[in-house]
Amino acid sequence: MNEIINILKEKKSIPLDKFINIALYNKKFGYYMKKNPFGKEGDFITAPMISNLFGEMIAIWCVSFWESVGKPSKILLVELGPGDGSLCKNLLKTFKQFKNFYNSLEINLLETSDKLKLLQKAKINNKKVKWVKNINNINRGPIIFLGNEFFDALPIKQIYKRKKLFFEKYVALSNDNRKIKFLHKKANDSLVKNIQNLNLISKGNTIEYPVEAIKFLKGISKKINKFDGGLLIFDYGYKIKKNQDTMQSVAKHRYLDLFSNPGHSDITSHINFRLFQKILKKNNLNVKKIANQNEFLKKMGILERANILSKKMTFKEKANMFYRLKRLLDPKEMGHLFKVIFAQKKNKNFSLGF
Ligand SMILES: C[S@@+](CC[C@H](N)C(=O)[O-])C[C@H]1O[C@@H](n2cnc3c(N)ncnc32)[C@H](O)[C@@H]1O
Repeated sequence: MNEIINILKEKKSIPLDKFINIALYNKKFGYYMKKNPFGKEGDFITAPMISNLFGEMIAIWCVSFWESVGKPSKILLVELGPGDGSLCKNLLKTFKQFKNFYNSLEINLLETSDKLKLLQKAKINNKKVKWVKNINNINRGPIIFLGNEFFDALPIKQIYKRKKLFFEKYVALSNDNRKIKFLHKKANDSLVKNIQNLNLISKGNTIEYPVEAIKFLKGISKKINKFDGGLLIFDYGYKIKKNQDTMQSVAKHRYLDLFSNPGHSDITSHINFRLFQKILKKNNLNVKKIANQNEFLKKMGILERANILSKKMTFKEKANMFYRLKRLLDPKEMGHLFKVIFAQKKNKNFSLGF
């Protein structure tokens, strides 16, 4: 917190996206750079940690996708922001059961945090897995890009429209230099133009502009167009056509004020899936549908798989497995709050899970 206050003292004010970037990813004191935020003892838990069946369903989806592109002798899976490595570990376990696929497979992990990279390396330990610094350096395919709760952890901008003028939210210190607050500055022309081009304007509401996600989607789309493959995203998000302020901060499994403890709490925003769909289409990819997470997992057969597994389980193990599945599938829990989108080359039509 003190480090962030010092930066704000020096810079006076910074755009919201820069603030998020510092709070989460500053090399010295950014939230993701210095701790393992995951799990019961940490701040939050994600789907791969809730149930292994989540990764198992995605693994089967990957194998089916590989079959749909003609079982190429090389297939690259790129996981975006692998967290503590749970998903990759689960995927590998299932992949090993599909020998031909496994022999063709290479995995690249894109991770910005050295601290988390160490966790991933300790957990995964497989020669097929390499860590990459930048997706621009990838030069072969087909590529499956996979991100679970990756895009919601990327910095965004927030903008308002008032009486025909656009204002961007900045972050600054209060007069006594003790508290962090929002400040509104006139948005620059290029930002306004970008918002207008994406048709994001809606009077009175907060417009969220996912500046970093847009860069990633551009780079990823370029690779898919060039090498074939697709992008599969699981994330917190919404489909309704309404601008809204979705920024939130979490620590120890509880919500807190965005500015109360930056550097020590997670900061996320929900994904505007219709906007992602629009951007991916503009990038020349084919996006059929945005599915709820429970729809995707059920279509992949998660309940049937759980029933098979339950036959060899004690009552206690069964209860535990179905309790975890409820968290993933219940519409009031992750089932509807999380959405899934798949983007692929324009002439391709793989639709498993959707
Ligand atoms: C919310 S966590 C999700 C972790 C994991 N996918 C899961 O589901 O448990 C976000 C992850 O993305 C990583 N990350 C965020 N921004 C990144 C960037 N620009 N490049 C690479 N990794 C990034 C974080 O360090 C973290 O591993």
